[in-house]
Amino acid sequence: MTTPLLQVEHLRVQPPGAERPILEDVSTVIRAGERVALVGPSGAGKTTLLRALNGSVRALSGRILFNGIQLDDRSSRILRQVRRGMAVIPQKHDLVENLKVYHNVMAGALGRWSNAHALRFLFWQTASELDEARHALDRVEMANKLHDSAGKLSGGQQQRVAIARALVQKPLLILADEPVASLDPRMARQVLELLCKLAEDDGVALLCTLHQPELAREYFPRTLEMRDGKLTTDSAGQAPVAPTRSAGEAPAWTPGNA
Ligand SMILES: Nc1ncnc2c1ncn2[C@@H]1O[C@H](COP(=O)(O)OP(=O)(O)O)[C@@H](O)[C@H]1O
Ligand SMILES: [Mg+2]
Repeated sequence: MTTPLLQVEHLRVQPPGAERPILEDVSTVIRAGERVALVGPSGAGKTTLLRALNGSVRALSGRILFNGIQLDDRSSRILRQVRRGMAVIPQKHDLVENLKVYHNVMAGALGRWSNAHALRFLFWQTASELDEARHALDRVEMANKLHDSAGKLSGGQQQRVAIARALVQKPLLILADEPVASLDPRMARQVLELLCKLAEDDGVALLCTLHQPELAREYFPRTLEMRDGKLTTDSAGQAPVAPTRSAGEAPAWTPGNA
């Protein structure tokens, strides 16, 4: 059995401005290298769950453990550490359109670069940095667009650049939020197939929200279903609730046992 990478226990989330909790008692485990689709109707709470996982929205209660680290959004050090291991592909791609494709791809390296390095890269790029960007773009069949402006690309091409950026980050987990929602059905399949293949090749876990259950079934070995802020089904057969621990029992997950 592969190692648990992400453990979510009894998570309850109420974003600022929301009148009631959006997520209630969400618990699940995702193992290293696993590919999981998160499906459910619009408004179910899928995006809120992804945002909670990388500390962008605070939990009222419950806990999230990622690669042996308990997420604490009040600690910038822990947030940085957790976010370095999680690459996010947001629903609406967030490329900087007036920069080059290579700038956008290498944004995936920002977590391991100093501010001075990042600033220098903006104006001057070494051959090895450009090679790394080219290699990542090659994997999404876009190497010929290295020097193009990101704003000139089509929607499908921009989504591929967002995937290349996620790969450059060398994450343990990719969180992809409706990565194919804005693409036509043919392009959606191509991009999803590529994302799943690359995650598998790199042994990276993938949690991907989708609103088309048929795509989830086709591309993902495991599907979680969310309704009204609760996980209602887990195709892996595990009950979508965390195991309860009695006092004195060793914790199921402790820092360093990943
Ligand atoms: N910051 C917020 N303030 C108020 N309501 C929110 C906020 N974020 C999300 N919601 C509400 O939470 C529900 C779930 O949203 P979301 O996570 O975006 O669902 P999904 O991604 O499944 O469509 C929706 O009803 C949405 O309006
Ligand atoms: Mg959403």
